[in-house]
Amino acid sequence: MFIVFEGLDGSGGTTQLRLLASALQRLNHPPEVLMTAEPSGGPVGRMIRELLVQQTMGEAVLPYLFTADRRDHLDRTILPGLARGAVVLSDRYLLSSLAYQSTSLPMERVDVLNGDFPPPDATIMIDVPVAECLNRIEKRGQVREIFETRERLTTILAAYERALALRQSRGDRILRLSGMGDPLEVHNRIVELLVAEGLWPS
Ligand code: TYD
Repeated sequence: MFIVFEGLDGSGGTTQLRLLASALQRLNHPPEVLMTAEPSGGPVGRMIRELLVQQTMGEAVLPYLFTADRRDHLDRTILPGLARGAVVLSDRYLLSSLAYQSTSLPMERVDVLNGDFPPPDATIMIDVPVAECLNRIEKRGQVREIFETRERLTTILAAYERALALRQSRGDRILRLSGMGDPLEVHNRIVELLVAEGLWPS
């Protein structure tokens, strides 16, 4: 099973992915829960992380780099994990490209670049208002990445709406919930949704 977490920077996807991984690990069914993320830890992913803070190349290269990283991530991590029978949880996947890279290339072009990548079994979209995302980013106190401003996040949120509609019209299963409140409350909402969708291992 392949599950992806999506949402704006600061929406809590990384925390929720870890909480879900722990809950699934406790079930021990299947025994392997693989946590992964994009940008990946591979060579292209590492280059992207650098670019997101240093901007040694224009943003116009990002759609291509993210696509190359995704291909590598699929081949190196996601597909082998699925082939072993693991539950694969990824912090971001192609919906992030549709939303974030549509600021540098029309979404239809980003869609073509990502066209032959397999859809996840479910995408968990965590909704948090931009102002609250910015509060959380501020509290983290890390170096700001290029997308972490009010203007950019507002534009990206609108692009996420279009991207979600596009992928839903293709049959992707998208589970959407509010990411406001205590992390454990949000986690419980996610488990409830997965149970309701028949995606909780039994
Ligand atoms: P993020 O999940 O925020 O990583 P971290 O918490 O470790 O900083 O991802 C980094 C940024 O990359 C984030 O702003 C979203 C962006 N991104 C894209 O622009 N396109 C993509 O396809 C992906 C996967 C991420």
